[in-house]
Parts: sequence; structure tokens; C-alpha cells
Amino acid sequence: MKEKLRLKILKQLKALDDKKKSVIEKQLSDRLFQQAFWQQANIIGVTYSTLIEWDTEQIIQQAWKEEKIVVIPKSNQTTKTMDFYQINAWTDLERGYANILEPKETVSKKKMNDCIDLLIVPGLMFDEHGYRLGFGGGFYDRYLADPTHHCTLVSLASQFQIVDKLPIDNYDIPVDYIITEEKCLHIKDKKDRV
Ligand SMILES: Nc1ncnc2c1ncn2[C@@H]1O[C@H](COP(=O)(O)OP(=O)(O)OP(=O)(O)O)[C@@H](O)[C@H]1O
Ligand SMILES: [Mg+2]
Repeated sequence: MKEKLRLKILKQLKALDDKKKSVIEKQLSDRLFQQAFWQQANIIGVTYSTLIEWDTEQIIQQAWKEEKIVVIPKSNQTTKTMDFYQINAWTDLERGYANILEPKETVSKKKMNDCIDLLIVPGLMFDEHGYRLGFGGGFYDRYLADPTHHCTLVSLASQFQIVDKLPIDNYDIPVDYIITEEKCLHIKDKKDRV
């Protein structure tokens, strides 16, 4: 069920032309920067986006401009876990698994997993309850299952990525906010439903 949905939405995302994609990206990031949870966050956790995802390079740039700390995950493909490390420049990144840009081993040894204020959680589809269809690795679900990781969770999505209800498993953890071109959706009653 999840896999079928992933293929469907990936097809739609791939079909977006560059111009349309950058218009949506600007709307999403502008709305993100207006939010109090962005303005109040000192440490931002974010992945460096792949071509299929909404661009996060501009978001990282803006965070640096606002003198925030940016931490990026490095994945471990054996344990399917990830650790976040601070980066201060693009040269602090190198290509890792699946050509994804990750922090260089040499840059910082200090894990920043426990101190992230705002985590930008990637995803392909979302529902009105904040549930998320990711890329299928379980990296974020594993990370979020750790009670010491208590960051605010926000995802960026175009309206076409939002559905009424997603198929979910008991290990799926919803986000707190979903930002679309039209609104910032606040998932208020998260704890009651999980
Ligand atoms: N807390 C957890 N502990 C152990 N395994 C987990 C946990 N959360 C998820 N998994 C495993 O990860 C696999 C992928 O889960 P799922 O299909 O929900 O991925 P996803 O949400 O798309 O990925 P991601 O979290 O990386 O965005 C599942 O088969 C599940 O067994
Ligand atoms: Mg999941």
C-alpha cells in the first residue's frame, strides 16, 4: 500500500517542470521563515535535498544568514539510523550513500542529535493528522522514536502531496506542522491520537 503510493507521488514530483517547482519552493520557504517556530529556533536539523525534493539549500542559506546552527544527518545504512552534525559551509559536505550530500567525517565529531530545536522532516505525502509517507528507509521514524529527541517537527509539501488519510503503521510518528503553498497546518491533538 505505502509502496504503491510512493511510486504514484514520485511520478507526479518528477513531472514538475523546473519553473513550477521553484515557484512552489519559494512559497514554501517564505512561509516557513514567517513562523514563530522558525524564528525562535537556534538549531535547525535538515537534510540536503535531492532533486526530487523541495529545495533545502535556500533554507540552509537563510538559517546561516539568521545566525542559526545548521545540522545535517549522516546515515548509517547498516543500522538504518542517522546522526546529525553541524556544518558551517558547503565544503563541509560530501557525497554519501545514493549520492546524497552528508557532513564530512572530518568536519565535526560532535553529535547534535539531542539539541535540535526545529527538524525539517522530509516526506512524499502527508495527511491532515501530520502522518507522513517517507522514502521507506525508516530513518526518521527510528530517530523520532528516541524520547531524548524532542524537537519541533515541520514538513514542507505542495497541496497535491496532502491526502485525507495515509496508511500508517504503529512506528510512524506524525509531524507538528505541515507547510504548504496555502497554509501552515498545525497538528494540535497529536498526543491523543498516537
Ligand atoms: N522505531 C523503529 N524501530 C525499528 N524499526 C523501525 C522503526 N520505525 C520504522 N522502522 C522500520 O522502518 C521501515 C520503513 O518504515 P516506513 O515505511 O514507515 O518508512 P518511512 O517513514 O517512509 O521512512 P523515513 O522514516 O526514513 O522517512 C519499516 O519496515 C519499519 O520496520
Ligand atoms: Mg514511516
